[in-house]
Amino acid sequence: MVTDNRLSSLLQLKLPIIQGPFGGGISTVELTSTVSNRGGLGSFGAHILTPDQIIETTKQIAGKTDQSFAMNLWVEDHDPEALSLSDDAYEGFAAQFKPYYDELGLDLPKRPDRFHESFEEQMEGIFQARPPVLSFVFGIPSIDILRECEQRGIATIGAATSVAEAVALDLAGVTAIVATGFEAGGHRPSFLKRAENSLMSTSALVQTAAARIETPIIAAGGIVDANGVTAARQLGASAAQLGTAFLACEESGTTDAHRELLFDKDAVADTTLTRTYTGRLARGVRNRLIEELEHPDKQIAPFPVQAWFVGPLKKASMETNQTDLTSLYAGQSAPNLQHRNVASLMDALTTSLDSTAAAA
Ligand SMILES: Cc1cc2nc3c(=O)[nH]c(=O)nc-3n(C[C@H](O)[C@H](O)[C@H](O)COP(=O)(O)O)c2cc1C
Repeated sequence: MVTDNRLSSLLQLKLPIIQGPFGGGISTVELTSTVSNRGGLGSFGAHILTPDQIIETTKQIAGKTDQSFAMNLWVEDHDPEALSLSDDAYEGFAAQFKPYYDELGLDLPKRPDRFHESFEEQMEGIFQARPPVLSFVFGIPSIDILRECEQRGIATIGAATSVAEAVALDLAGVTAIVATGFEAGGHRPSFLKRAENSLMSTSALVQTAAARIETPIIAAGGIVDANGVTAARQLGASAAQLGTAFLACEESGTTDAHRELLFDKDAVADTTLTRTYTGRLARGVRNRLIEELEHPDKQIAPFPVQAWFVGPLKKASMETNQTDLTSLYAGQSAPNLQHRNVASLMDALTTSLDSTAAAA
């Protein structure tokens, strides 16, 4: 199938498919490059990488594909409350996590100078590495940064969870806008209002944003197959971004236990929005970590302090393939997942989208 719209030429796509980036260390060079080699836009979630790691990872992906791909960053790298966190508050959060660290035989992490890499510094890595596309969430980069991207030939994709955010991104002049509905796995990357007050469905957001803006829209949230892609395009999107469907593929960097869980229809039938994983609202499967930390006696730390404490639990759980004390991201359409590797998923999408185009 050859996509027929502006977006395909702007991003050099053969298929109207974007593989959603995965932050937190579960993107892989293999996943990103394989999707791009098969005609979609592979993306790499780089928000925890240093500028040097961004340069190195971009080189590795470019070494495996001559097609377009995206590197992805988080614009607002700390919640304001995390920047002004007192030492007492830090110790209070540490005390909440201590039982889990004791249970797994881990030492509590010391307070760092910064909890997260600086977005501005990471952009220096992007400018040097010059990936074909920069996608970003949780805000809009400064006009200087967007202009520099344009000058260096880097296309930009922002993410909106409301029509107001889509309009703001449109005014900023980005190349494309991901309209992400509450169905989506992973974070709700709201930046104008609290995520809890920005809960539009993918279909409502795509339709209402398409009526207001000219910038091409990429629908994200609850899409796992060609029917979903076609429906999103009928509502006004130029392409679809699939996250959970690619997360379930063996090429993603998550654990086998998480992948297996994604194919357990009963377990993923009931996902939830929670701040437990990082301090920011995200969709995943309820487990012991969520049940215990959402207790009225407990307090969730701001981003990325919560992520700072959950990180070592996640790492230990990855090593032991456990699912009770880690993040289990999943979108609402996970019960419809069918493909366990990228070749199978991309072949199915290509074939079905081709036949839809032929029938149209
Ligand atoms: C595990 C996981 C991590 C994610 N991390 C990021 C990220 O760092 N940056 C980003 O733009 N989107 C991120 N997303 C969102 C996806 O890229 C995509 O937009 C979303 O998963 C689409 O919804 P779906 O899961 O229902 O397909 C993540 C999603 C998941 C499931």
